[in-house]
Amino acid sequence: MIQVKRQKFVIGNWKMHTNAAEARKLAKAIAVGVGREDRVCVAVCPPFPYLALVTENLKGSKVSLGAQNLYPEEEGAFTGEVSPTMLLDLGCRFVILGHSERRHILGESDAFINRKVHVALAAGLDVILCVGETLEQREANQTSAVLESQIILGLAALSASLLPRLSIAYEPVWAIGNSGHQATPQQAEEEHIVIRESLARMFGKEAQSVVIQYGGSVKPENASALLSQPNVDGALIGGASLHADQFLAIIQVAIEQTQREEKST
Ligand code: 13P
Repeated sequence: MIQVKRQKFVIGNWKMHTNAAEARKLAKAIAVGVGREDRVCVAVCPPFPYLALVTENLKGSKVSLGAQNLYPEEEGAFTGEVSPTMLLDLGCRFVILGHSERRHILGESDAFINRKVHVALAAGLDVILCVGETLEQREANQTSAVLESQIILGLAALSASLLPRLSIAYEPVWAIGNSGHQATPQQAEEEHIVIRESLARMFGKEAQSVVIQYGGSVKPENASALLSQPNVDGALIGGASLHADQFLAIIQVAIEQTQREEKST
């Protein structure tokens, strides 16, 4: 199969971390560190209350803004929820949907996530759809089936024309945070291929262009081995994205990998 060039994504998911002062400082440091660099797509996803403040501090920079969730309605009586239009209003380009913490802690179903995917894309947000198996599912040899089902149900009824605005994040639940476990680069590559094959069955050859990021304990130390895998097109980073130096070091790895790939083609 022809190797399609895909831009590397390095995205920080700040989860429920930072206060206003920390969010401002982190956004500023990342904006300065990234400078005019645009070979790699860089974004940060702060908590909702700091989106406005972070957007201010990213102004004029090459760093995009993303949100960690949305509610799939335009407006209405949905106490505590945030609409896609509100996110766009605050300067968001991306939204993370289907994160395992929302699936497992907040009980989000594939059907609900699918509704969000449709509404987000229709509103004009680019979607990062997270998929990933639990340790129990991996040990029961269900990983491929779980990933395929999350892809099929999460992207049900999606038009292939929207694929350029979609990326997938493979986040094995057992490798997230301080679990003490990390996926090996080979495990990540294997599951990214499973995901790409599922996408290909749904959307045909357009699947080759979809960016598939890896998430789960990505650090400056393991970023190079992960990002050098042919189907690992980027990283969705939790813990290390809260430290500007670590996040910038991972971006640097992505730039170097991009340069290597450009030279070899
Ligand atoms: P960690 O990088 O902290 O493992 O988090 C990964 C993640 O869940 C990003 O969305």
